[in-house]
Amino acid sequence: MFQDQLVSYSGVQPSGNLTIGNYLGAIRNFSLYSEKYKCFYCVVDEHAITVRQNPAELRRRTYETLALYMACGLDPEKNTLYVQSHVHEHAELAWILNCYTMFGELSRMTQFKDKSAKHADNINAGLFTYPVLMAADILLYQTDVVPVGVDQKQHVELCRDIAERFNQLFPETFTVPEPIISQSGKRIMSLAEPTKKMSKSDENANAVVYILDDRDTIIRKFKRAVTDSETSVRFAEGKDGINNLMTIYSCFTDKSLEDIEREFDGRGYGEFKRAVGEVCADALAPVQARFRELLADKSALEAQMRKGAEEASWYARRTLGKVQKKLGFVKI
Ligand code: TRP
Repeated sequence: MFQDQLVSYSGVQPSGNLTIGNYLGAIRNFSLYSEKYKCFYCVVDEHAITVRQNPAELRRRTYETLALYMACGLDPEKNTLYVQSHVHEHAELAWILNCYTMFGELSRMTQFKDKSAKHADNINAGLFTYPVLMAADILLYQTDVVPVGVDQKQHVELCRDIAERFNQLFPETFTVPEPIISQSGKRIMSLAEPTKKMSKSDENANAVVYILDDRDTIIRKFKRAVTDSETSVRFAEGKDGINNLMTIYSCFTDKSLEDIEREFDGRGYGEFKRAVGEVCADALAPVQARFRELLADKSALEAQMRKGAEEASWYARRTLGKVQKKLGFVKI
């Protein structure tokens, strides 16, 4: 809560390759959030460097991520959209919180264990303290809710523990945030292994439809989607592939599952898959056009970043100032 407004905070990795799962499950609904909360969306470039990045690519993807979120309908007039490294308070509060976070707590983070197994040649201290920087992101804005995927739940819980510990020592410093885990009803599964969630980092490119895939690619990917040995389009247990395609079709068209069964009654899987590909490509076409338009004007995007950073700094400065004062840092 900041000046009587409930606050929602989310960080997004600068990796332009968002999927239709991200779009349908989260991004498309962001505009509903801004009716209830003061919303912050931060492109977390400082988190990104916990694994090796190519500088030119990181820079390009930072612009792209901002443009893509805006193209998906995130209105920069109603939400604060900004880049983490533009607001120096994040790194400063992270240092302070490092001193109130235990080695043992960080050692238990499953993402750290997974990432250190995957990047065994670069298990750096930043990778280890990644959740502390994330806690700083969240706590700087006196955040009430943090919409995240289930993989980030443990990090938000750690953030709560850090906030509570700090508040115990220095009362009423931070709002203790609640995670909001994105709804399972909108879970979009892999097209190749429909019992697994669609993931942007899937090695099989045919399993994933990206928001920026072109029309032919989208239609081809749906055509190759794994289904079952029956022929009827109906939602049923064991028909994971068809269930997933029906969910996707339903999300894009707002048709109910029963309506979809009726629409494709007596028509084969081939025809259904073609229809799913087409509604998906049709829905994404305006998003892609807007993305290209935004990306073509770098200086407008930079102006947007500057405005977002100024808005965010206003909040961040207040919280960091309060923390420094409580800790006994001399103010000059
Ligand atoms: N760690 C998050 C992820 O990988 C990104 C993130 C960074 C974040 N800071 C955050 C998410 C603050 C929510 C709140 O998805």
